[in-house]
Amino acid sequence: MADSRPIGIFDSGLGGLTIARKLADTMPHETFLYFGDTLRCPYGKKSPEEVLQFSKEIAAWLLQRDIKLLVIACNTATAAAYTTLKETLPIPVIGVIEPGAKAGIEKSSNKRIGVLATEATVTSAAYLDAIHTLNPKAKVFQAASPDSVDFVEGLMATAPEKEEIWLQYDTEHLLAKALPIAERDCKALKEAEVDTVILGCTHFPLLKPIFQKVFGTGVTLVSSAEETQKAVAACLVDKNIKASEQHMPHHKFATTADAIERFSRGGSFIFGRPLYEVQPVSLASLRSPTSFTSLT
Ligand code: DGL
Repeated sequence: MADSRPIGIFDSGLGGLTIARKLADTMPHETFLYFGDTLRCPYGKKSPEEVLQFSKEIAAWLLQRDIKLLVIACNTATAAAYTTLKETLPIPVIGVIEPGAKAGIEKSSNKRIGVLATEATVTSAAYLDAIHTLNPKAKVFQAASPDSVDFVEGLMATAPEKEEIWLQYDTEHLLAKALPIAERDCKALKEAEVDTVILGCTHFPLLKPIFQKVFGTGVTLVSSAEETQKAVAACLVDKNIKASEQHMPHHKFATTADAIERFSRGGSFIFGRPLYEVQPVSLASLRSPTSFTSLT
């Protein structure tokens, strides 16, 4: 039976919209309800316990809005909360780490795979485990690039107009800021002679040209978007919860950000369509007992 309920997606901020966009582009009849926890971003510098708690609060908020499936479009939250949410929630849950690991294994010829992620994802070793489950012989090298997350959120928040943000993308000005961060953080992966790097943070595909410049064309950069999309599509079929082909989607967005207008502007660029409806959510309401009694 057709199911027109929304698919819930969340991230610590805007980065998860790289996943949401891939889903919306390929599933034109599905409605998405996206939550960006901008006020508490970056997750990558927080403890697994904190990220698990934030993830539970957001999952409960989304569940109250009757989502049919939850996509954790954040590697850090996937590492900290996927197992718990999968076991606790009454709906299917999909994370981005298994799909990212699969993409990395498929693209690598020498099976020397780099993972560029947040500090929390690196510490969790979730990618190591996911890659080794698929191929125990693969050599995995990890590196963190926390400043790249701040860079993306800051760039999106401060640029005056969306066009101006990315028209500047190749300018000396932007490269001068982003390139030294990328060069510093990718050094160990380059030295490890990886042939593939998983961009294991959903903010990083937005800096792909910069990372590609650092690694050179001999290294393939992969993100989890494509494999995550395949996992979501398969789940909709498997659970028989696809929206009907007549359904006209009406995407909605929610954020803890102080500046809704900035969230909308940066978000519209990443999502590839205007974010018409962005709801502000206070941390107090997110933490209120009625919001997550089902998950505590
Ligand atoms: N975009 C997130 C991820 O995929 C987290 C970035 C952050 O909040 O540190 O890990």
